[in-house]
Amino acid sequence: MDIEKDRDERVQWICSSKDNKELEERYNQWAKDYDTDLDEGLGWMGPQHAVELFARLVPKAVRILDAGAGTGLVGELLTGQGYNNIVAMDLSSGMLEEARKKNVYREFHQMMMGGPLDYATDSFDAVISVGVLTEGHAPASSLDELIRITRPGGYIVFSLRPDVYRDNGFKEKQNALEADGKWKLVEVSEEFRHLPKGKADAYHQIWAYQVVSS
Ligand SMILES: C[S@@+](CC[C@H](N)C(=O)[O-])C[C@H]1O[C@@H](n2cnc3c(N)ncnc32)[C@H](O)[C@@H]1O
Repeated sequence: MDIEKDRDERVQWICSSKDNKELEERYNQWAKDYDTDLDEGLGWMGPQHAVELFARLVPKAVRILDAGAGTGLVGELLTGQGYNNIVAMDLSSGMLEEARKKNVYREFHQMMMGGPLDYATDSFDAVISVGVLTEGHAPASSLDELIRITRPGGYIVFSLRPDVYRDNGFKEKQNALEADGKWKLVEVSEEFRHLPKGKADAYHQIWAYQVVSS
């Protein structure tokens, strides 16, 4: 068995889910093997790059939402950087169950980005979202709610594939939000191979915005 090919195929299987219900079920099934497959197996680099940029911008004593926290890889790295007030939110209860075992989050909420989020306006000082705003996952319209729940002056840091940015409405949405005075771009990273041990020649970038008005 070609285990590397198997892992690449599993990522494709996830991304080809026909709706959010199927996506949730597939992540529930994958949850126990996610860290072994994606992090150890394919060398998932999204969390490292995002947290490195986040830590350069965001002070430590803040309340953070990890949107699409998955099994908690981002939370672990944030904790390693000295953050200790992190909330995990995800579509999949199975992924949140794995995140719970990492002992790095204060709260766990099962919610779906793309529709209204069950958080009050200005609930968080910062939001981080890695590997979530992508094909078959959370759409560009999710950004409205992320801005609403982040206080003015707070940061939103997320990863995005350059092709998804270009072709899936993110470019237009991000620019419109800036033109409307909702947020301003602080930094965008170089493109990096997000699964360097896998076969796919695919890239991500990290985007950082500061909220102006929610
Ligand atoms: C590739 S994983 C990334 C997990 C984690 N952020 C990481 O970097 O390892 C994508 C996660 O987003 C969640 N997800 C997908 N679509 C979502 C949505 N619309 N709302 C909330 N979570 C979603 C999935 O359940 C999964 O846990």
